[in-house]
Amino acid sequence: MRMPLFRRTKRWLVPVTGLLLFSILFAACGENSPTILNTHGPVAAQETFLFWVILVISTIIFLGVEGVLIFNIVRYRERPGMEAPKQIHGNTAVEIAWTAAPAVVLLIVLVFTVRGVLAVAPESQPTTGNTINVTAIGHQWWWEFYYPDYNITTADSMVIPVNTTIHVNLYSNNVIHSFWVPALTGKTDLIPGHDNTKWFVANDPGTYQGICAEFCGTQHANMRFDVVAESSDAFNTWAINAKQAATTPAAGTTAAQGEAIFKEQCATCHGIVGVTPKYQMQDSSKVCTTTQACLLGPDLTHFGSRHLIAGGVLSWDAQSCQPGPDLMTKCNIAKWLHDPQAIKPGNDMNVNLTQDQITQLVAYLLTLK
Ligand code: CUA
Repeated sequence: MRMPLFRRTKRWLVPVTGLLLFSILFAACGENSPTILNTHGPVAAQETFLFWVILVISTIIFLGVEGVLIFNIVRYRERPGMEAPKQIHGNTAVEIAWTAAPAVVLLIVLVFTVRGVLAVAPESQPTTGNTINVTAIGHQWWWEFYYPDYNITTADSMVIPVNTTIHVNLYSNNVIHSFWVPALTGKTDLIPGHDNTKWFVANDPGTYQGICAEFCGTQHANMRFDVVAESSDAFNTWAINAKQAATTPAAGTTAAQGEAIFKEQCATCHGIVGVTPKYQMQDSSKVCTTTQACLLGPDLTHFGSRHLIAGGVLSWDAQSCQPGPDLMTKCNIAKWLHDPQAIKPGNDMNVNLTQDQITQLVAYLLTLK
């Protein structure tokens, strides 16, 4: 008697399982999701090429093995009165073949892998053309970026010029993080006590999402950043502005009241060049190498020109933060100042501000362009 293939399976289970598998496949395909499949620089392109090589080889093997398996299950299935098939146990030729074939396949993968590893290694960093150094510092849970050549400190957004080698020093003084910008470069860990470096190049202007790719605590998923690649001219304009101390708001304005609150309540953790005395970016060799030298929270000198709040947990858009009755409902930075622990539980920011104080602080932050 013939048995159906899955005798006890409920009929609806097969399509439902199929749908679930498809939804997993497409779950990560949002328009703004970072992906290794759309690269914008040579380092990521090398890594993606290796991905395709291994995927194609694996797919050919998978289809071949499963094809032969299914063919044999169907073609040689047991029928009434069949003789036992010929036994090939101990067949030397077959044993050699299925030992040698995988070894050859792995050798091919090895050649491509070594080629890819060498192409993106620190030793392969281009020696011609311009290079910019950036120290990327992993905090729990946000990214600080320090430009030693320019003496600029910023957070959440790493601004770079296109077609320029970006040499990144990776530094953490807390736990292990991992620096990953899928469109530009693969992952490299930030390990306390072991300072890694990496390099990459962005070929096209654009904003590329960066991610922390190593579990580093409860808010690991909210440790994102942007790499903003601009033309050399736009980058130089940015750098000239970023080096300036913050502008002082005119006396008597709401922004000036906000500055006073900042000095009173925020300056212990956040730095603003020209405002906070402890934090002056004068020493061009300043790299955050000890807890003492680090700010606890992000530098805010040019906060108004950035687009992310607190490791990308919220976006920051000056348009929605104009003074008015909607401030507390529409403006993300106002929401953040109201209750940072509700938005990102476990972060280092603990404040208790009145609505007036928040309005004044937002007005001040708007001036920090
Ligand atoms: Cu930092 Cu995950």
